[in-house]
Amino acid sequence: MNDLNALPADFTWGTATAAYQIEGAVAEDGRSPSIWDTFSHTPGAVAGGDTGDVACDHYHRWPEDIALMKQLGVGAYRFSIAWPRIVPGGDGPVNEAGLSFYDRLVDGLLDAGITPFATLYHWDLPQALQDRGGWPSRETAEHFAAYASAVTQRLGDRVKDWATLNEPLCSAWIGHLEGKMAPGLTDLGAAVHASYHLHLGHGLAVQAIRAASSDARVGIVNNLSPIEPASEREEDIAAALRADGHTNRWWLDPIHGRGYPQDMLELYGVELPEHAGDLATIAAPLDWLGLNYYFRQIVTADPTGSVPYAQQIYLPGARHTAMDWEVHADGLEQLLLRLTEEYGARRIYVTENGSAYPDVVGADGTVDDPERVRYLEEHLAACGRAARRGAPVAGYFAWSLMDNFEWAYGYDKRFGLVHVDYPTQRRTIKGSGHRYANIIRAASRRARRAA
Ligand code: FCB
Repeated sequence: MNDLNALPADFTWGTATAAYQIEGAVAEDGRSPSIWDTFSHTPGAVAGGDTGDVACDHYHRWPEDIALMKQLGVGAYRFSIAWPRIVPGGDGPVNEAGLSFYDRLVDGLLDAGITPFATLYHWDLPQALQDRGGWPSRETAEHFAAYASAVTQRLGDRVKDWATLNEPLCSAWIGHLEGKMAPGLTDLGAAVHASYHLHLGHGLAVQAIRAASSDARVGIVNNLSPIEPASEREEDIAAALRADGHTNRWWLDPIHGRGYPQDMLELYGVELPEHAGDLATIAAPLDWLGLNYYFRQIVTADPTGSVPYAQQIYLPGARHTAMDWEVHADGLEQLLLRLTEEYGARRIYVTENGSAYPDVVGADGTVDDPERVRYLEEHLAACGRAARRGAPVAGYFAWSLMDNFEWAYGYDKRFGLVHVDYPTQRRTIKGSGHRYANIIRAASRRARRAA
């Protein structure tokens, strides 16, 4: 683990979760339904018919979960705030009970010496706004900024690190084009308009956060993948370029003031719902970029498929997680360098990275997960190599603190450093959690020696 020596002394060691995946308590204290409540209750939408109704019951068990983080020794926690708890109608009155839940959580984290990183939107749009058009509609972006303002006014004295959106690619492409996530649409025009208004909402929220809290540090979280052509054939190289546009450039160029990539605008053939000044709003300067990394894509041309006409292939013999995602840590190093060299990033957090395996609690009460340990070590080493080559990697947030509701896959896919036995809600730190704690301790010792 020599590569870790290259990480900065003040490196942030964290874990991450998202509201709908862990909180449960979906009808408590004035929370209204989100599009994920609707989607998860749609027959056939989620594996096993699972829903987030109870999830990890974190809404009630958060003190125990903070204690677990303390045991792991993490210095930071990335969580998301549920819009339908704060503004149940989507716009209009702010719900005091919703705000006070996050108030207590933030105070609890600070008491435990853990820095809160809050994400304002991790996919749980109030259903009330979906009923009025959702992200394809411009007003959703405006309501998002108003909600961001209410939250920052309340928590901004204690929360300094804010992410606007988590993985807008998933909201737009998987939610509106592939139909595999809420709101479950398969409409390219709606998907492109959703992507545009997500970006606009992001830009407006950056302004709102800064207006409410002058020392806020604001970022956005994108999930990216390095893309490689499956062969040297011209068609495959062109497919890789399209897949790169769809997965990476469409999400990075506009927020860096480069507008939307021309090749993709032509490919989608959808006119953007653009008003004068929007592109400048979307490109609001940021303090950091969040990178969620899970896998690379190797693609061939797929002319009869759907946008972006690129088919992902699987290399024989490659290692895969329970999600069927290839394990390829070099991809993380590559993306960190790309953000640095091509987009001039000055501060990057790996806001999510992790792996699902079918963990079980053994007869002795422990959870042995050597594959996740290896995954964790390899990806941390990739961060170290990227840092050595000049990438400003400021922190790493393991996905996830604990097993949780893995969206359309339900509870079957376990990503946690902590195992959750859902019927009893019993938490058990896995081998990977203990390993992460050791890595953090060793890094802190190194940092103290260097100081
Ligand atoms: C990311 C999501 C996160 C989690 C991981 C496995 O796409 O942001 O909520 O589901 O994947």
